[in-house]
Amino acid sequence: MWTFDERTTVANDTLTITDNRTGKTYEVPIADETIRAMDLRQIKVNDDDFGLMTYDPGFTNTASTRSAVTFIDGDKGILRYRGYPIEQLAEQSSFLEVAYLILKGELPTQGELDEWVYGVTHHTFLHENIRKLMDGFRYDAHPMGVFVSTVAALSTFYVDAKLIHNSEDRQHQIERLVAKTPTIAAFAYRHMMGLPYVYPNNTLSYPGNFLNMMFSTAAGYEIDPVLERALDVLFILHADHEQNCSANAMRSVGSSESDPYCSMAAAAAALYGPLHGGANEMVLRMLREIGDVTNVPAYIKRVKDREVRLMGFGHRVYKNYDPRAKVIKEVAYQVFDVTGRNPLIDIALELERIALEDSFFVERKLYPNVDFYSGIIYEAMQFPVAMFPVLFAIGRTPGWLAQWQELLTDSEQRIARPRQIYTGYEQRDYIAIGKRTDIRRMAGGS
Ligand code: ACO
Repeated sequence: MWTFDERTTVANDTLTITDNRTGKTYEVPIADETIRAMDLRQIKVNDDDFGLMTYDPGFTNTASTRSAVTFIDGDKGILRYRGYPIEQLAEQSSFLEVAYLILKGELPTQGELDEWVYGVTHHTFLHENIRKLMDGFRYDAHPMGVFVSTVAALSTFYVDAKLIHNSEDRQHQIERLVAKTPTIAAFAYRHMMGLPYVYPNNTLSYPGNFLNMMFSTAAGYEIDPVLERALDVLFILHADHEQNCSANAMRSVGSSESDPYCSMAAAAAALYGPLHGGANEMVLRMLREIGDVTNVPAYIKRVKDREVRLMGFGHRVYKNYDPRAKVIKEVAYQVFDVTGRNPLIDIALELERIALEDSFFVERKLYPNVDFYSGIIYEAMQFPVAMFPVLFAIGRTPGWLAQWQELLTDSEQRIARPRQIYTGYEQRDYIAIGKRTDIRRMAGGS
């Protein structure tokens, strides 16, 4: 793999910048259609000047890393893990095989896959003290809050978690996290429902075991193979999405050399927000609020009047149909064959039909994203809305860990520490408490 400076550059692969403040000209190299922000630091008005920076809130045009995990072409609606198209993986692979691919870079041989599946299957149990810790949450605690906290708490159970520079130790933590997230998620759900925990069953598949831990009762639970496969596909579709908000959180916290449990808890916390992994919950609430297909045009008008956002639409990167949404739409119908049709699908289809014809959405390139249909499937499968981000987190675990591992093995990476443009006061003197109000008024402050 090339580093920025090693990459072959053709002649004239440079950018010439003239600073009109000084009349000076600078030439900076271009590689991978990118310039290095640090190359701008030399651009100064005088020797005392700090040098030029870039300002990019939300990192809309800043590459924070080189990564070989996931490729997205947002304009063409392409998503590939390690070069393999998401559509092929969703159709032909399994979640654990995809997790292996994402984490190790190549599809496994049969022997490698068997070993990986065995390792994950035999690490699904939680230490009993973790279970007790989960008991301590309030009876109605949101499962995502429980998930975030419990993942962080795992760090106190594995002393080797701190040995992040040892690849063998890293593999242990990775296997543990991929194995234990479904157990934590199911326990968080059972706790919220006041139901007894169901322990992992090593004879079941990864999604089958999760469904069993979620829904098994005294009468047992029969795993429907269609639902088991649907869940596996949903996990595949969520497995990684390059430098999104939660991956960035994982990398940012990981860059201070925190252990993977604490770093992943931060990533899961980032995922929780309604603009990221919490969006499918918002989609469901929106569809329920619309209530009927006949109310769709009025809702679209409210979106265009900017009263509300059309949740599950739009994406920072995709300016075309999100390829994951296409696959999910197909999975929805397979699930409905088993569970019965979720009536919300008709409202969703009508919203999509109108939006894709309307110039407001067409001009802004707003298409359904992965969250538009996933909530409808989850609901049909009897998952409560509060579990939606937790399901997303199970699927995203290998992606976060692959991003973390890539960060640690990338010699160019340093602790994440952005710059700022300071907009506050210049130095001022401390004011005794009795004199503060008057002085603030005199200064025009409040
Ligand atoms: N409904 C209505 N208008 C929208 C929507 C939407 N869902 N999304 C974007 N727009 C409009 C904006 O108002 C803006 O219009 P303007 O230029 O006339 O002001 C334009 O499209 C660009 O929108 P931005 O907010 O600048 O786009 P950004 O890239 O910052 O945001 C985001 C992306 C957060 C996903 C946004 O589209 C959104 O809020 N969507 C709804 C929430 C959602 O579905 N999130 C899930 C994302 S997928 C995931 O995380 C797994």
